[in-house]
Amino acid sequence: PLTTPAQVGRWSAAHIVNKINAFNPTADKPFVLGLPTGGTPLTTYKELIKLYQAGDVSFKHVVTFNMDEYVGIDKHHAESYYTFMHSNFFDHVDIQADNINLLNGQAENLEAECQRYEDKIKSYGKINLFMGGVGVDGHIAFNEPASSLASRTRVKTLTEDTRIVNSRFFDNDINQVPKLALTVGVGTLLDAEEVLILITGHNKAQALQAAVEGSVNHLWTVTALQLHAKSIIACDEPATMEL
Ligand code: GLP
Repeated sequence: PLTTPAQVGRWSAAHIVNKINAFNPTADKPFVLGLPTGGTPLTTYKELIKLYQAGDVSFKHVVTFNMDEYVGIDKHHAESYYTFMHSNFFDHVDIQADNINLLNGQAENLEAECQRYEDKIKSYGKINLFMGGVGVDGHIAFNEPASSLASRTRVKTLTEDTRIVNSRFFDNDINQVPKLALTVGVGTLLDAEEVLILITGHNKAQALQAAVEGSVNHLWTVTALQLHAKSIIACDEPATMEL
């Protein structure tokens, strides 16, 4: 474990930059990066922007796929993941608009939208590095407890718990929190060449314990990481409390 969330941010950003630079991406062979939203990755995005500004990395030939998006709010809503990603990361680096992929939670046919996303990921072969966070109940992306560990991108009903936790971004009013989301599946995540999960704070200690010491099971979807040959958890000290 690293001691603080800031250290988790620095370490994870440096790791991503090293991966991109070692890959040496080009227009024909871009680096494919999976990305999360949430409070946890904010320090990573800040560090990535700093490294970009220092000239240590370019995102020109990086293709991104975000892991999830709410259904039923406009993409320009302050709390959409589209808005989050643009204001916290994309607007500050040299990524090309065409290389940014987000699920469209306003699509008329949500199932077709999920299939489109899976097909687009496949068109690149695989995701080179998927970064994620974890919910207090151990969900990755929006793969809520009891999601199949073989699941693919799909529509998911959010649990009451998740909506309560996320209501802090919606004036603490659960009625404003969408009830549905689109999310990559656990299987989609496991297909990535490498998975990097950030876990910070004492409220995530049980999730970290399940991920590392628990048995693989669909009630703590983060435990699926144990099935992956190359998964890394970057965590801070308080998150290790239950280990
Ligand atoms: C949401 C997102 C997850 C994220 C989780 C934790 O549920 N869909 O991808 O990992 O929140 O967010 P935070 O980092 O703010 O605790």
